[in-house]
Amino acid sequence: MKLLEAKPVADKMKQDLSKRVESFTRRTGVKPKLAVVLVGDDPASVIYTSKKGKAAEALAMEHLTARFSEDASPFEVHQKIQELNQDPSVHGILIQRPLPKAFKEEEVLYWVTPEKDVDAFHPLNVGRLSLGLKEGFTPCTPAGVMEILKFYEIDIAGKNAVIIGRSAIVGKPMATLLLQNDATVMQCHRRTCALPEITHKADLLIVAAGKHHLIDKSFVKKGAIVIDVGIHRTPEGKVEGDVNPAGLEQVAAAYTPVPGGVGPMTIALLLSNTLRAAERLSRSI
Ligand SMILES: NC(=O)c1ccc[n+]([C@@H]2O[C@H](COP(=O)([O-])OP(=O)(O)OC[C@H]3O[C@@H](n4cnc5c(N)ncnc54)[C@H](OP(=O)(O)O)[C@@H]3O)[C@@H](O)[C@H]2O)c1
Repeated sequence: MKLLEAKPVADKMKQDLSKRVESFTRRTGVKPKLAVVLVGDDPASVIYTSKKGKAAEALAMEHLTARFSEDASPFEVHQKIQELNQDPSVHGILIQRPLPKAFKEEEVLYWVTPEKDVDAFHPLNVGRLSLGLKEGFTPCTPAGVMEILKFYEIDIAGKNAVIIGRSAIVGKPMATLLLQNDATVMQCHRRTCALPEITHKADLLIVAAGKHHLIDKSFVKKGAIVIDVGIHRTPEGKVEGDVNPAGLEQVAAAYTPVPGGVGPMTIALLLSNTLRAAERLSRSI
């Protein structure tokens, strides 16, 4: 079983990005800048936000964190985001999730202007992706999966792809991207009946259920490629996925390990979207 590690893919992307950032900054005198809006003290969110900032610095990009306490009102956070939307020195804006309960996701989705929506959550960008229009952004995690497949020269045209999960951030855009690349796509969720029968049809099995070790080798067709998007911290402090890798090598042809598979791609794609936003915004001035 081939291990589809993200590191060489993310390293290659970062090398390319670094050259593009340098040329953009030379041409415009401006550094691409990412703003992260962080509400509350969720420990994982604090770590992810800091990682994003460090990754931006490593590529000579700028970043800022607009930090609010857990009890901040949606009104004051929205006002700050409107300020960032107007700020010409900011090119990409990301709202770190999860947000406290006082925030209504169906409203928050509209807050970041589509031109700076590097997480690709705004309904306009969701629609653009679904229609295959180039001017939108692609959500970072599914885009990262596509980069892994491309890097390891895994041709998905005509293959049966099964996705477990239908969230707006991973499952749905993943299905759109695979379909646009000519896979035959089936999407599963909690109400799916006979899950193993469906996963046994998968040449490419993408698991994004958010359930620790939901899938084991008994779900996997011989020769399948298994992509594990899940991230879980066990009580012992280990990071594990939605797929239990025990004995997987007896059936799968390739697998993205956790940690080290899909996870490291997400930040690389976020910075790539931020640079694209900066390039587009500089053209529109
Ligand atoms: N690597 C990264 O950078 C990255 C980025 C984002 C997310 N993640 C990880 O990816 C996982 C999924 O994230 P998410 O945001 O998409 O999660 P989510 O919003 O909780 O969605 C989970 C999806 O899985 C489905 N599901 C749950 N249990 C299932 C089961 N037993 N059988 C079939 N389907 C089931 C749900 O079905 P229903 O729709 O019917 O409820 C839902 O569509 C999480 O572990 C998350 O931490 C990783």
